[in-house]
Amino acid sequence: MGLRYLTAGESHGKGLTGILEGLPAGLKLDVDYLMTQAARRKMGYGRGNRQKIETDAITITAGVRHGLTLGSPIALWIENKDFKNWQDVMSAEDCPGEVKRRVDVPRPGHADLVGALKYRQKDMRNILERASARETAIRVALGTAARRFLEELEIVVGSRVVSLGEVEDDTPAGDPGTLNARADKSPVRALGREKDLIAVVERAKAAGDTVGGVVEVVAGGVPNGLGSHVQWDRRLEAPIAQAFMSLNAIKGVEIGGGFRTAASPGSLAHDEFEPGKGGQVKYRSNRSGGVDGGISTGQNLVVRAAMKPLATLMKPLASVDLRTGKAASAHIERSDVCAVPSAAVIGESLLALVLAQAVLDKFGGDSMEEIVPRVRAWRKSGTSI
Ligand SMILES: Cc1cc2nc3c(=O)[nH]c(=O)nc-3n(C[C@H](O)[C@H](O)[C@H](O)COP(=O)(O)O)c2cc1C
Repeated sequence: MGLRYLTAGESHGKGLTGILEGLPAGLKLDVDYLMTQAARRKMGYGRGNRQKIETDAITITAGVRHGLTLGSPIALWIENKDFKNWQDVMSAEDCPGEVKRRVDVPRPGHADLVGALKYRQKDMRNILERASARETAIRVALGTAARRFLEELEIVVGSRVVSLGEVEDDTPAGDPGTLNARADKSPVRALGREKDLIAVVERAKAAGDTVGGVVEVVAGGVPNGLGSHVQWDRRLEAPIAQAFMSLNAIKGVEIGGGFRTAASPGSLAHDEFEPGKGGQVKYRSNRSGGVDGGISTGQNLVVRAAMKPLATLMKPLASVDLRTGKAASAHIERSDVCAVPSAAVIGESLLALVLAQAVLDKFGGDSMEEIVPRVRAWRKSGTSI
């Protein structure tokens, strides 16, 4: 069955639940480790007050004993500290009288209208509570467990922001092992042009507008041979693209040169080979972003994702009040101006989950004791015929 996960929870509900099944037994995992990534998700210039309210304390409720995974489903819980202010509104019990904080005017670009029509809901709070990216708090927690697994296999994942609005930073990402140490220093996860990128957010904020951008997530130490060319759903790019497209507000994904490759001639699009040490074949470049034919090459895995500007604007977009049928300004829910730096950090967890799955597919095994030597042996023998 491999690795699989589910999450549950509304943005202002009691809390968030996540279950991750398929991680092997004997992996060191504790709350302190899980919390390191929870804090990173909340970093970033342009986030709203919610990031300050929540401390995102994670509780492990199953699957770990005495600091080691059991091979059973890992269940995690994050309490929503803000729930105390929303008890009536979000109560699971029947609520007598008028329901507060009802949402009647859908935000263009959000899930409000489509969700209300699909689920036959008059109060669009019943949609936006789950469509909110608050869900990513628990997804990052699950992805952090996957990251822990990858760490034991010397696979690292980092991220940075490549552009905000029209301003692009073309600094190369460099070593994935130190990428986060460098990008975490910047409130916009920039490796260069930090001031210009911050100014983009400032301008959007002053105008009551929002801003999107492009994130880059890079994995290093990825063994060659993950994924496969033999079936459509086994091509490594397929679950990667799905994982990134599953993140709220992501509207495009590219691996390696991606869309830019489409514009370049074939002579500049591929990674030429040359003889390497010990009969190995060496890549001259990494334009493919670490995947050829659906199989990892052993080079850095480079994924970029485009995030649209957030749909909740302080200067609201034109909409319709569904109660009256008349024109109205879109609903304003507490909102960020820019969440691109957070999306980059969340992307690390999404890639970690896909890579953990791909590693388990190739190497199999139910315990770390089984898997670690298999991966080590492959690293020695798998790069030459
Ligand atoms: C980290 C993160 C934070 C977000 N914060 C907001 C926000 O404050 N306001 C908002 O309108 N959308 C926010 N979004 C985007 C919405 O969740 C998203 O647009 C919505 O669920 C509709 O889905 P779609 O954009 O994929 O069509 C955020 C997304 C992410 C990844």
